[in-house]
Amino acid sequence: MPRFPTRLAAVVLLAGALAPGGEAPSPLPIPWPHGAAPSAAELDRQLDDARTIEERERFEEFLAASEINEDSDHLPITQEDVDADVYDKKLLFQFGDEFFSHEFTHENGYGDSSYTTLKRVHTGVRGGLDTFSCAGCHSLGGPDGAGSPTQNAMIQGDGDHADSALVRNAPAMLGVGMVQALGAEMSRELQFQRQTALDQAKSTGQPVSVALATKGISFGALVVKPDASIDYSSLEGVDFDLVIKPFGRKGTISRLRRFVEDAARLHFGEQSHILALGYKDKPDVPHLGPGPSWFDPDNDGKQRELEEGILTTVASYLAMLEVPVVLPPADPGLRDRWANGSALFDSVGCSNCHVRQIPLLYTTWHETSDTTKGEVVLNLFADGDQPRGSNLIELFSDLKRHDLGPGLADPHDEEHHLPRSVFITRPLWGLAETPPYLHDGRAATIPLAILAHGGEAQPERDAFAALPADDQADLHVFLLSLTREPKVRVGR
Ligand code: HEC
Ligand code: HEC
Repeated sequence: MPRFPTRLAAVVLLAGALAPGGEAPSPLPIPWPHGAAPSAAELDRQLDDARTIEERERFEEFLAASEINEDSDHLPITQEDVDADVYDKKLLFQFGDEFFSHEFTHENGYGDSSYTTLKRVHTGVRGGLDTFSCAGCHSLGGPDGAGSPTQNAMIQGDGDHADSALVRNAPAMLGVGMVQALGAEMSRELQFQRQTALDQAKSTGQPVSVALATKGISFGALVVKPDASIDYSSLEGVDFDLVIKPFGRKGTISRLRRFVEDAARLHFGEQSHILALGYKDKPDVPHLGPGPSWFDPDNDGKQRELEEGILTTVASYLAMLEVPVVLPPADPGLRDRWANGSALFDSVGCSNCHVRQIPLLYTTWHETSDTTKGEVVLNLFADGDQPRGSNLIELFSDLKRHDLGPGLADPHDEEHHLPRSVFITRPLWGLAETPPYLHDGRAATIPLAILAHGGEAQPERDAFAALPADDQADLHVFLLSLTREPKVRVGR
């Protein structure tokens, strides 16, 4: 996958093309989309980087064409090799990137003996075989991006009929490392509050009522009794385990590692070694496939399709992806409208759920193995693609689940039996590049997405609808400044 969006390549190439032949290009006024352009030296550096990446990718393509299975060389990374530091962070990033755009084939374990064709509609929790690569759905707006409506996944259906499935639009991957890290810190704090209440109830012999809140976000309350039983009826937006699960449109997964494992299985029939080990203890688990044996559940003749080391690699890669930014428009007239839109975002109440900034305390990432004692340690603010943001993560979400009313509800239950109209507050960072919007991609534009809010967000939705048209447009201008950093790209 190329690492840079196309937007600015044209500007840079144009500047080069207009320079008189043979002479060093004189600095031209560049109509930079968001204000001051980077310095010429910085542009040169970006162009060099972009060229290097382009050359590497071209070379890899030729190599793959000339040497059978060369493109699969980095797929069977073992955890033992990762633990032995055979690969540095740069290589882990590169291999994760290759995995993300790799087109899986039967040789790599793609498929399932009972499916001979692609199935757009998934069969229950066993999944589809609906495309060939992660990038096949996560590509809109640049590398590791979102999905267009035609890339929607149709999950948990009957394998045939589109209306049996739950429609899901693919979100972008940028910044997901920060999201997981925030979720983990918030979970620890909520669990600490519960434990403190349990200790207090035990020592005093009295019930203790505790308001749960972390990073300024309330998750309701608990009543803890001296016998250690807990009344969860006032808990809000999180499961009884008090683990924030930021991933998936309904907020059901807390670690990227598990998401990678699920995605590879659901979309390509690539089954992880760890999953197969779990299958060994539960031979009746139905959704892994028709295989009689725990070591090849999908019965395609391939074993160890997804090594644990590759889960570590891809999870580390995702954690190292760049972070979206807020880029106000350069035009002074639009700048005023942007500022008004930004103020309206708060006064209308959008930031009640789409919390602008959440502080991240610990910036060290431990990607720990499931089976060995090994881990990959990353510095979230230093390692990986730029920009990486600051400790105040500009996420525009509370990482909390909300009921958005019957208009947005799924047509039937999903595997976790969460209420049909409940979804996690979608982070709005990077919004400009990720249409369509909402869990099923039903909203083509940002205003349509806002107007589709109901349930807990009904008052804010109505307040938006009641704004004069100019103010609505200003809010739209503001939301379009949530974007990804423009970068130079050399591409085809
Ligand atoms: C068929 C399209 C499709 C393919 C292929 C696909 N994804 Fe996704 N991805 C989605 C959809 C749809 C969602 C939202 C799922 C949900 O809400 O349940 C998603 C969500 C995610 C998320 C969670 C993001 C978030 O913010 O909630 C991660 C991480 C992810 N995918 C990684 C991957 C990886 C890694 C691969 C390749 C192994 C992959 N995806 C392949 C469609 C796809
Ligand atoms: C009660 C909490 C809440 C409030 C208040 C709220 N939202 Fe949302 N918002 C959500 C949830 C939950 C989703 C995800 C819905 C889904 O997945 O279908 C969402 C989704 C969105 C999306 C779509 C994002 C995407 O990538 O699909 C936009 C845009 C959005 N909200 C903007 C706003 C704006 C603007 C306001 C203020 C007028 C607002 N929201 C108020 C909870 C809220």
